[in-house]
Amino acid sequence: MKVLTYPSGKLSGVISVPGDKSISHRAIMFASLASGTTKVTNFLAGEDCLSTIDAFKAMGVEITRNNDSVQIKSNGVNGLKEPLEPINLGNSGTTARLLMGILSALPFHFTLFGDASLTKRPMDRITNPLKKMGAIIDGREDGKYLPIAIRGTNLKPIDYHTPMKSAQVKSGVLLAGLLTDGVTTVTEDTKTRDHTENMLKAFGAKINVDGTKISIDGNHPLHACDIEVPGDISSAAFFLVAATIIEGSEITIKDVGLNPTRSGIIDVLQLMGANIRVEENRQVGGELIGDIVVKSSNIQSAVIEGDIIPRIIDEIPIIALMATQAEGTTIIKDAEELRFKETDRIDSVVSTLSALGASIEATADGMIIKGKTKLHGNITKSFGDHRIGMMIAIASLLTDEKVELEDEACIAVSYPTFFNDLDRLISN
Ligand code: S3P
Repeated sequence: MKVLTYPSGKLSGVISVPGDKSISHRAIMFASLASGTTKVTNFLAGEDCLSTIDAFKAMGVEITRNNDSVQIKSNGVNGLKEPLEPINLGNSGTTARLLMGILSALPFHFTLFGDASLTKRPMDRITNPLKKMGAIIDGREDGKYLPIAIRGTNLKPIDYHTPMKSAQVKSGVLLAGLLTDGVTTVTEDTKTRDHTENMLKAFGAKINVDGTKISIDGNHPLHACDIEVPGDISSAAFFLVAATIIEGSEITIKDVGLNPTRSGIIDVLQLMGANIRVEENRQVGGELIGDIVVKSSNIQSAVIEGDIIPRIIDEIPIIALMATQAEGTTIIKDAEELRFKETDRIDSVVSTLSALGASIEATADGMIIKGKTKLHGNITKSFGDHRIGMMIAIASLLTDEKVELEDEACIAVSYPTFFNDLDRLISN
């Protein structure tokens, strides 16, 4: 239980946030499939990414970590070994979905399991296309849920039009394609985060991107390639919103990833009237990096829907909190994917913000939030969901009353130093 009382919630100062979670996972995975030694800097040492490290260590890859620097020494795909024990994926959906694509094409047997939350999350979105490629996968409800067993085999390439707006599914299929003779193609209706495409290119894969259609040549070897991980915009989002809605705030977040498939939070902040300036300054491994400066301002409601949703999918909890402080009614639509995250994030956001005094209601594919409301204290819980925990911590800055947060430990999944950074910004 953490008691959150911040007498002056005003934020000021300059910070950088830890490395991007999606990119950190991919760096470990692709380096493990590549021949040579890869150095990863600004790696996110959150619990999810450590699950990915453990999975590849179990397959014999030499991985050494010193805080946020990781060295991965691999002999390429052919150097991987069969793990002797079941692989624990913890809370990490990204590890689960991407890894399944890789393991399905390796000549070994694997058993995968996760924590209580991951065990409830749907895996058929990835096991179905993999089975179409010939993968031998079984699990609860015909491979819909973990624990799952995979008997790796030779797959056949696929031309897959994905029904999901999911980068994890796209990436899992592309990774299976990477290890399969022939050309595998994935086409999406809406472009999702493209870190897999960018980073595979950097490791030497033959991958072609034509709008929302991505093709990869199978069995083309990867070569080690050093990776600098940009700051995670999904972590930065909590402070960007906090500085916008808390009067008298002004902060700068340095070296944040600004990949356009991830930066929808900046569009939403601008749409709602935030005082925000973005200084793009460099490109690393196909990823744009820059600094973001934000000052508090009055904000208005917005309708948030359509193609922007995949670009803000992990930021919707903190956007919902922002909407409680905006004049007017904010409507979030087309976000049914939120129901399949670490928690059902439509229900967990609505019940949590209601308990803190917000006027918010759930819809099938989003939520409706009436602002501006004065929030109050309460006893809350994260439901074991890191982004709900951080949303509650930011909400506590809006009231002088005591907000108690049960099970705050889950924040370490994506942002182990969240409370240190919050304390730094508050005490400046
Ligand atoms: C991720 C993709 C998204 C996102 C998750 C990370 C990734 O999930 O919510 O936090 O690294 O590819 P979906 O693919 O389920 O949309």
